[in-house]
Amino acid sequence: MSKTAIFEINGKKFEFPLVVGTENEVAIDIKKLRAMAGGIITLDPGYKNTGSCESAITFLDGEKGILRYRGYAIEDLAEKADFLEIAYLLIFGELPTEEQLIKFSSDIKDQAHVDEDIKKIIDGFPKAAHPMGVLSSLTSALVAFNPTSVDVESDEEMYNAIVRLLGKFPVLTAWAYRKRAGLPLDYGDNSLGYVENFLKMMFKKPTEDYMLNPVVVDALDKLLILHADHEQNCSTSTVRMVGSSHAGLFVSISAGINALWGPLHGGANQAVIEMLEAIKADDGDTKKYMAKAKDKSDPFRLMGFGHRVYKNFDPRAKIIKKSADEVLTDLGVQDPILDIAKGLEEEALRDPYFVDRKLYPNVDFYSGIIYRALGIPTEMFTPMFALGRLPGWIAQWREMRLRKEPIGRPRQVYIGENLRDFKPLTKR
Ligand code: ACO
Repeated sequence: MSKTAIFEINGKKFEFPLVVGTENEVAIDIKKLRAMAGGIITLDPGYKNTGSCESAITFLDGEKGILRYRGYAIEDLAEKADFLEIAYLLIFGELPTEEQLIKFSSDIKDQAHVDEDIKKIIDGFPKAAHPMGVLSSLTSALVAFNPTSVDVESDEEMYNAIVRLLGKFPVLTAWAYRKRAGLPLDYGDNSLGYVENFLKMMFKKPTEDYMLNPVVVDALDKLLILHADHEQNCSTSTVRMVGSSHAGLFVSISAGINALWGPLHGGANQAVIEMLEAIKADDGDTKKYMAKAKDKSDPFRLMGFGHRVYKNFDPRAKIIKKSADEVLTDLGVQDPILDIAKGLEEEALRDPYFVDRKLYPNVDFYSGIIYRALGIPTEMFTPMFALGRLPGWIAQWREMRLRKEPIGRPRQVYIGENLRDFKPLTKR
């Protein structure tokens, strides 16, 4: 294969090197284009054809439905590892040894508390505040309580910032929910594992013990693993972009939480259940909603369907669908919403509109269903996604800083007014 690409612009040829990744993905390196071609740039809104970085964290192939963290297949990881091992793998590049994992887990537990004054900040939020807004604000607020900046050249400082965030984030996530639910803001129990402790922090009532159900723990662990990283998606690109200005880890993650909130990204899991509930309230008329989704004059989209990258199937959806079946059977959940979901899925999978556009159920179509079966309230679905994505965001932020990437600053093609004379107020 040729090692260069040639652009011809206005009869002049420009040659650019090709970059080939370890999985033979090819990109044209256009770093010098603007300088060489007298200010000409490329235009790619939504970045459908643009690589923003080189990364060694996650590989995915949307056509073949492949997802790997640091070279390990997601199917293997979801089956054989737990969430903290995955966090370590994503952030530091290798699966931890037993000794490393014990230290990692114990260092995170050491940080599994927040300053009591955080409670005052939470007090200031209205009870109806969406927990994603609360979570992003509290994550930013962590800076005020941990003001030292991280020297990214220092392994020790980097490690300390990482375990600090991994320790405190579940507390903030659980508290964002407890505030809304009117429950006292409790700390967890360090004798428990990461996921077990999180569940207890979320659901423990002041008057009784919280009994852990291994099926629930296992399903949540799997969900967190499946969400842990997904290369340069909207929220991760946001984390890298904000971090590229050398903003700190906590505020970069806070920005990622906001990006995740939108219904076209992490907010889709909440939107799926809301959509299914709306269909149920409308006599379960799935045909009507299928027609709405296909009607170009109607902004409605079938939530939980389609993916920017996966155009055949979402490998996470395959794993999670199986897990959803197990959890629902094990917990004996009877939920009319599930029948609607199944009906919608069947109809979409044989409808030419969806087949032609390669729109398949994505991970969020099923994750919302599991969260609901686990008793997690709908508005907490996206915060759960954030909890899962945290190690990926951290890994990507760390990689970006260690690779000394330049500040992210795209260009534009200006399409506004040309120079015009200023009109005084009386003459407009
Ligand atoms: N329902 C109906 N039509 C759809 C849907 C959908 N869910 N998704 C895409 N389409 C149609 C578009 O209207 C477009 O049709 P056209 O070619 O006739 O104009 C075509 O399929 C391509 O859609 P795009 O929006 O160009 O695809 P893109 O890659 O930009 O968007 C996205 C991907 C945002 C995920 C989109 O499929 C969507 O909005 N899905 C619903 C929201 C959702 O489930 N998001 C979760 C994503 S997974 C995650 O973030 C973890």
